[in-house]
Amino acid sequence: MREADVPTVQEIERDIFSTPWPRNAYYRELSSRNTAHYIVLRKDEEIVGYGGMWRMYDEAHVTTIGVRRDLQHHGYGRIIFAGLVQAAYDLGAKWVTLEVRTSNDLAMQMYEGFGFKVIGRRRGYYTDNGEDAIVMWSDSIFSPRFRSAFEANLERIATEVDGLRRDPPSTTTTR
Ligand SMILES: CC(C)(COP(=O)(O)OP(=O)(O)OC[C@H]1O[C@@H](n2cnc3c(N)ncnc32)[C@H](O)[C@@H]1OP(=O)(O)O)[C@@H](O)C(=O)NCCC(=O)NCCS
Repeated sequence: MREADVPTVQEIERDIFSTPWPRNAYYRELSSRNTAHYIVLRKDEEIVGYGGMWRMYDEAHVTTIGVRRDLQHHGYGRIIFAGLVQAAYDLGAKWVTLEVRTSNDLAMQMYEGFGFKVIGRRRGYYTDNGEDAIVMWSDSIFSPRFRSAFEANLERIATEVDGLRRDPPSTTTTR
């Protein structure tokens, strides 16, 4: 993610999250290059989604992930999340954690598909509706169990991207 991407990221975020980050938050994150890592996924030059993480010592913490509403459930979230897990390896982290709303079953399923497990609950974590957060973590990202889940996701992404390449180019842009 570059500074020039922030307005589009914020536009997506305002549409898909009930509590979007304050206006300057992404610019601040992007200036913290040592600890923060933010990515966007593009298709045909358009940003379809984004994600971010912080690294603190051995831990990488996923701070956000989102896919444009009209493009959700097409496999893009998996690609972005795989990018974040790869970043955790590249940044020298040993494990990855994240919080997710108790009601967000689909996101939780995605994280479980990457080998994440529920390790706790933060009561009333989300200030807009007082919803609890489920805390998930990867355990060691170097364990054979986690690595094989990651590799299975990478293989699936490779197959799906191959399928996308073979699709005829889309002529419509919907928002
Ligand atoms: C959560 C989110 C990032 C997932 O991205 P996505 O592109 O929609 O998800 P994908 O199509 O890549 O699917 C990945 C996995 O997510 C789960 N999932 C996604 N859509 C699903 C659906 N309609 N039904 C069931 N499971 C679904 C599944 O586990 C799926 O894996 P599978 O295909 O093996 O079943 C996206 O839906 C989103 O932006 N949601 C709103 C913001 C949000 O909730 N962010 C997460 C905050 S913790």
